Amino acid sequence: MAKVICVTNQKGGVGKTTTAVNLAYYLAKDKFKTLLIDFDPQGNATSGLGIDKTDSGVLGITMTNVILGVAQLSDAIRPTKYKNFDLAPTAPDLANAEVEITGMQRKFVRLRDAIRSVENNYDYIIIDSPPSLSLLTVNGMIASNYLLLPVQTEFYALEGVAQLLESMKLVMKQANPSLRLLGVLATMYDKRTSLSIQVYNEIQKYFKNLTFKTTIPRNVRVAEAPSHGVPVGAYDKFSKGAKAYKAFTKEVEERTK
Ligand SMILES: Nc1ncnc2c1ncn2[C@@H]1O[C@H](COP(=O)(O)OP(=O)(O)O)[C@@H](O)[C@H]1O
Ligand SMILES: [Mg+2]
Repeated sequence: MAKVICVTNQKGGVGKTTTAVNLAYYLAKDKFKTLLIDFDPQGNATSGLGIDKTDSGVLGITMTNVILGVAQLSDAIRPTKYKNFDLAPTAPDLANAEVEITGMQRKFVRLRDAIRSVENNYDYIIIDSPPSLSLLTVNGMIASNYLLLPVQTEFYALEGVAQLLESMKLVMKQANPSLRLLGVLATMYDKRTSLSIQVYNEIQKYFKNLTFKTTIPRNVRVAEAPSHGVPVGAYDKFSKGAKAYKAFTKEVEERTK
């Protein structure tokens, strides 16, 4: 049965999508059957893997259809260019679907129900979430075994984290008692700035050994890769960013053994 990891932080631009795509890529490279679910209406994971999210003819069935209950998750899943790496893409209309499911039955567990039908086909399922504590995000938390929290090493990094942990506690109490925090990943780390170091120390003070030892450096190759529709590991595997995501993936594998 798959280990399900929800990459979440209600802040935008902290590296959720980058982390979800590159973790999925390196897990697959390490021979784990991996599914990446793009569960953010912005669809950056979808486009970052080279799929045109604006062309519904190309896209076909997406997470929108799945969450509305008009298609099976298996119908939305397609292989990527990479061995062992499948994708369930999203489209901008997932935002409308979120409003629609508000009035539906089982609105909190729709993603979990969908995942149950494919969880035996994978070792890992990675969910990329929107930058909010919305119904979609709650669906992601309820469907998961682990939360993975990327935190950008900049001022205000931990702002909102307390609220996120509250939501997590609520989800554990009400719907998913086995949910746990897999860890906190420091992203866009710049070891030359005292602010980065300071924020990383703050994260460590707060989360102790839940903080991943690997930090993801701010690296231009990481930022360029999505515009070529590929993970950084496929774009420039010798870049600092790629090496960091590879090392981080090993830590995830270790923690989820
Ligand atoms: N380590 C990094 N170095 C440089 N740019 C990065 C790095 N991680 C992410 N980015 C860039 O920062 C922006 C936000 O990252 P993204 O993963 O989309 O965040 P989120 O999904 O949390 O909104 C994107 O343009 C991405 O390419
Ligand atoms: Mg994103």
